[in-house]
Amino acid sequence: MATPAPAARPANPRFSSGPCAKIPTFSLDKLSDAALGRSHRAAVGKTKLKAAIETTREILGIPADYRIGIVPASDTGAVEMAMWSLLGARKATMVAWESFGAGWVTDVVKQLKIDAEVKTAEYGEIVDFADVDFDTDVVFTWNGTTSGVRLPNGEAIPADREGLTICDATSAAFAMDLPWDKLDVTTFSWQKVLGGEAAHGMLVLSPRAVERLESYTPAWPLPKIFRLTKGGKLIEGVFVGETINTPSMLAVEDYLLALDWAKSVGGLKGLIARADANAKAIFDFCESRDWIANLAADPATRSNTSVCLKFTDARITDGAAFAKAVAKRLEAEGVALDVGAYRDAPPGLRIWCGGTVETSDIEAMLPWLEWAFAAEIDALTEAV
Ligand SMILES: Cc1ncc(COP(=O)(O)O)c(C=O)c1O
Repeated sequence: MATPAPAARPANPRFSSGPCAKIPTFSLDKLSDAALGRSHRAAVGKTKLKAAIETTREILGIPADYRIGIVPASDTGAVEMAMWSLLGARKATMVAWESFGAGWVTDVVKQLKIDAEVKTAEYGEIVDFADVDFDTDVVFTWNGTTSGVRLPNGEAIPADREGLTICDATSAAFAMDLPWDKLDVTTFSWQKVLGGEAAHGMLVLSPRAVERLESYTPAWPLPKIFRLTKGGKLIEGVFVGETINTPSMLAVEDYLLALDWAKSVGGLKGLIARADANAKAIFDFCESRDWIANLAADPATRSNTSVCLKFTDARITDGAAFAKAVAKRLEAEGVALDVGAYRDAPPGLRIWCGGTVETSDIEAMLPWLEWAFAAEIDALTEAV
């Protein structure tokens, strides 16, 4: 007998892992103060860009002596700018446990052709950081968005390391505690946890990263879009809002609005609590069912933003087709949009739980997941 459809629907069915759901209070008219049609170098534009930097610092608790820059090309731009500018001075270690981390490995090994040790783990697992040599430059992703596996903390990173740590934290910043003293380069984009717009990346540099920039010149050419120094000195303007090229003032306004909202829910603590509550609703759901499980093997590594799930029912023969069908059914009902697993990840679902998502929406969506699963199992058994 067909399982009846749940009565309630999520008010907002947007569970995409990027661009992520906008802040719950969002409406386009709230961007009406954007400095549109004005120069980003005029006082009005510069003031907004500087506010974006300093409010980011305030909410994330970034130390006063760390530089924060707004750079082109979203998180990818920020990571690649850092790797192209800093790597090559010493040996590198590339650490990856899912698709985005693997992309940075390709950059370093195949494009930059740097002497690097590559440490990887399968989807659902994580690399043991106790085995990483932090006297090399280490590149890693804090939260693996496509596997839902995150670093639980930075304890394995020594304070007295000789190498630099370069951390892609795009699906972690504003949802997890980041140990700034252990991170020399941290990157993220506005389109992730705060539900901002893509286009611009955030680049956070420790004093040691700046020291490297000012004392080392890579052997390869650097396009203007990557250049952070001039005549061996850091271009300080980049870190007070004088962007390398023209930013979108609409995206800036949207980010400022999201930062304001973040403050209104209790800043970083509030954002972490919201993501934790969202993720817990899903963890609890999986715990009490034997047909679905978290892809992250070790509970300590389970992401509270990109929660990745796998179907474990023995009746499923084609895992990829089944997961796709469930995601399609949820989308067709308008109860969960964009929840299919990432294209390179194992078959399953990925449900975004960052702070802009309301727990009530996750709770309203889960009975639909149960319903869609039952419907697809019925379809399988009917087909036999
Ligand atoms: C871990 C990670 N790194 C990099 C990216 C690329 O981000 P962007 O498209 O904002 O450059 C993503 C996007 O999902 C990601 O999750």
